[in-house]
Amino acid sequence: MKSMAALLSIFAVALLINAAEAYTNYTVGDAAGWFFNSTTKKASAKYDAWAANKTFNLGDYLIFNTNSNQSVIQTYNETTYKNCTTDYSSDSDTFKYNGGVDQFGVPSIIAVPLTILGTQYYFSDASDGEQCRHGLAFKIKVNRGLGLPPSLNQPPPPPYSRPPAPADEGQSPPTTVGTASPPGNGVTNTSANGSWFGFLILVIYHFIIHHIATL
Ligand SMILES: *[C@@H]1O[C@H](CO)[C@@H](O)[C@H](O)[C@H]1NC(C)=O
Ligand SMILES: *[C@@H]1O[C@H](CO)[C@@H](O)[C@H](O)[C@H]1NC(C)=O
Ligand SMILES: *[C@@H]1O[C@H](CO)[C@@H](O)[C@H](O)[C@H]1NC(C)=O
Ligand SMILES: *[C@@H]1O[C@H](CO)[C@@H](O)[C@H](O)[C@H]1NC(C)=O
Ligand SMILES: *[C@@H]1O[C@H](CO)[C@@H](O)[C@H](O)[C@H]1NC(C)=O
Ligand SMILES: *[C@@H]1O[C@H](CO)[C@@H](O)[C@H](O)[C@H]1NC(C)=O
Repeated sequence: MKSMAALLSIFAVALLINAAEAYTNYTVGDAAGWFFNSTTKKASAKYDAWAANKTFNLGDYLIFNTNSNQSVIQTYNETTYKNCTTDYSSDSDTFKYNGGVDQFGVPSIIAVPLTILGTQYYFSDASDGEQCRHGLAFKIKVNRGLGLPPSLNQPPPPPYSRPPAPADEGQSPPTTVGTASPPGNGVTNTSANGSWFGFLILVIYHFIIHHIATL
């Protein structure tokens, strides 16, 4: 009975370790990448078909292998997606991942973490929406899976906002530059969680070693 329990606990730990690695990175379009040929007006893959039978979970990534001729727009707004433009979108539901490159054909790899549950849409708004209208667009549904890993608990976007500096004995000059707050609380929490997790693993490890010795 006792060795059975030991075996079961080994299983449990194996599952735990597996679970920690069970997030998936999906390369969009697989080998075809995220490209549009402006001569033939063709997307390099059928992206809806690519996405169709995959299971996407929180904490997974979409990896876009592309260049600056295409953009990567993420939106939670179906109207924005169907319109192939961000012109009427709001900052709270639509994000652009590769702005600011003013040269054609500069290679890039864009990693988009999946941080919000439910249906979401991806498209390129380059060439005034032409790329999107010709197939450089797809939608996915994100399931909970294992939930967000600690590394994505403060997902981009929205961007990290600095916590207010602690009130300093009533002194609070309104617009002084240089009243920097101490490095974020989030970081402290994360590393605290990390060491707690490490401790747990250590305890479980010793437990197993002990039981293997007595098997
Ligand atoms: C998935 O992609 C992210 C972002 O590039 C990276 O940090 C992570 O290590 C990748 N995970 C795997 C399993 O390749
Ligand atoms: C676009 O397609 C044409 C015809 O197949 C091909 O000759 C051209 O090299 C392609 N352009 C790019 C940038 O892949
Ligand atoms: C998705 O799976 C269904 C049922 O297994 C199959 O009929 C369909 O062809 C698949 N679609 C794609 C794009 O692979
Ligand atoms: C969709 O885009 C067109 C321009 O292409 C614009 O006139 C229209 O207002 C947009 N509709 C919505 C709902 O954003
Ligand atoms: C989606 O975006 C359109 C503008 O393109 C806006 O009118 C509409 O309110 C948005 N929908 C939601 C649910 O935010
Ligand atoms: C990028 O777009 C420019 C302008 O349309 C075109 O000349 C060039 O061939 C494209 N490059 C690639 C790699 O698709």
